[in-house]
Amino acid sequence: MATRTTIIALAYLISAVLFILGIKGLTHPKTAVRGNLLGAMGMLVAVVVTLVSQEIVGYWMIVLGLAVGATVGGVLAVKIEMTAMPQMVALLNGFGGGASVLVAWSELIVKANAYGVALEKNSEALPDYGTLVAGLLAGLIGAVTFWGSLVAFAKLQEFKSFKKPFDYPAKQAINAGLGVVVILLMVIGIMTPGSVAPYFFLVVVASVLGVTLVNPIGGADMPVVIALLNSYSGLAATATGFVLNNTVLIIAGSLVGASGVILTQIMCKAMNRSLVHVLFGVMEASEGSATADEVYGGRVKSTSAEEAAMLFDSASRVVIVPGYGLAVAQAQHAVRDLTNLLESKGIVVEFAIHPVAGRMPGHMNVLLAEAEIPYEQLKEMDEINPSFAQTDVTLVIGANDVVNPVARTDPKSPIAGMPILDVDKSRTVIVIKRSLSPGFAGIPNPLFAADNTLMFFGDGKKAVLDLLAALKE
Ligand code: TAP
Repeated sequence: MATRTTIIALAYLISAVLFILGIKGLTHPKTAVRGNLLGAMGMLVAVVVTLVSQEIVGYWMIVLGLAVGATVGGVLAVKIEMTAMPQMVALLNGFGGGASVLVAWSELIVKANAYGVALEKNSEALPDYGTLVAGLLAGLIGAVTFWGSLVAFAKLQEFKSFKKPFDYPAKQAINAGLGVVVILLMVIGIMTPGSVAPYFFLVVVASVLGVTLVNPIGGADMPVVIALLNSYSGLAATATGFVLNNTVLIIAGSLVGASGVILTQIMCKAMNRSLVHVLFGVMEASEGSATADEVYGGRVKSTSAEEAAMLFDSASRVVIVPGYGLAVAQAQHAVRDLTNLLESKGIVVEFAIHPVAGRMPGHMNVLLAEAEIPYEQLKEMDEINPSFAQTDVTLVIGANDVVNPVARTDPKSPIAGMPILDVDKSRTVIVIKRSLSPGFAGIPNPLFAADNTLMFFGDGKKAVLDLLAALKE
């Protein structure tokens, strides 16, 4: 018996170590793939050992479950476009929260029944308060995570009805009211250990809270929300770990929760926001901000591949700014070829990476690494910003919000105060995008109408290939 318990504890320890090594591997592009594999192995050990030790399901059932899970995961991994990864992460966070709600619910039913039976035998029987509190917390955090993640998914997928938050009066007061009801239900739940009804109502109210908390967040602040929901899903898993008394779930949940909090902090810093501001601030463009007609009217100058090539020919320093559009166009390989050609002409080329460019943390780093652009050439915002004034040509490819000077100038803008790449300070800016459509924050960008900016309209990949051809001529 002791041997069996020891083996299980040892297996859990191994999987916890694998999780930690996995996270460590993920901190650098070179070790990221290995890190991912180590984390997956840790999860495999944890799942198999948990199922085997429970002796509820047979081996064939475990193999079947693994096969179904691996097939669904494999198909999703292959089919999902890189640009849709954030939506998938949002969904996976949500599923984690939803699973916590269901597992805690079923365990609380078992505990409530056991308590009822114990009371019948001995009127002084005590409920298992630890499990009760952990279960209620798992239900609360899990439901907020599930519904909040679904709203985040809809926003990232740019579903029309979710692009703008749905409006209703006294949003903050309603959220505060829901918060008070949640606390009351938690107290009632603890005071009535023989009933799961408070848990049920708690989950319903927490579900509404999940929607009302994430609904108003938009503009450019979604990265913070995704990181926060990621952390919530970890906390819900930790609470469920306490409900089930499962060590490895507590460890895995804590790792996700803690790394989510760290990521949230990094994202808040990148956006120059406080968490309270993101959660309770109003992120819509307010009245008084300039319209697209006012910003662009008659001031936008467009250019061609040939004209742009001439500008590059006389440049000695070029900075390339990748954005979400580069990922959509899958232009990373063409950009690598352009970089090589420019460097062969003696031009210094660097990449300016904004922390929230694209749709997920590290999105641009991953894309450029895929095209084998040396990591040393990628410069973070703080490092590259002072050098724009000495840059001959800055080539912006499919980036918009992260180069929008309005962040510095319009306090009413939804991106007000967000640090941006100061590309407008370069001698010449060439912007490749298909139209004057706004970026994720949905606001016009005065950079496109600036005196030193030329718009090169077209799909990111085709435009870069045309530029390459013109440069070779
Ligand atoms: P965005 O501001 O979203 O702008 C992307 C631009 O790419 C669009 O204006 C679009 O203009 C252009 N585009 C799309 N497809 C293209 C194609 N095939 N070829 C060329 N251009 C194309 O991107 P950004 O500057 O990278 O900023 C990211 C935004 O997303 C920020 O607001 C950020 O807060 C938000 N966000 C980021 C994250 C993370 S963690 N990175 C997560 C969620 C949200 P056209 O349609 O005119 O081509």
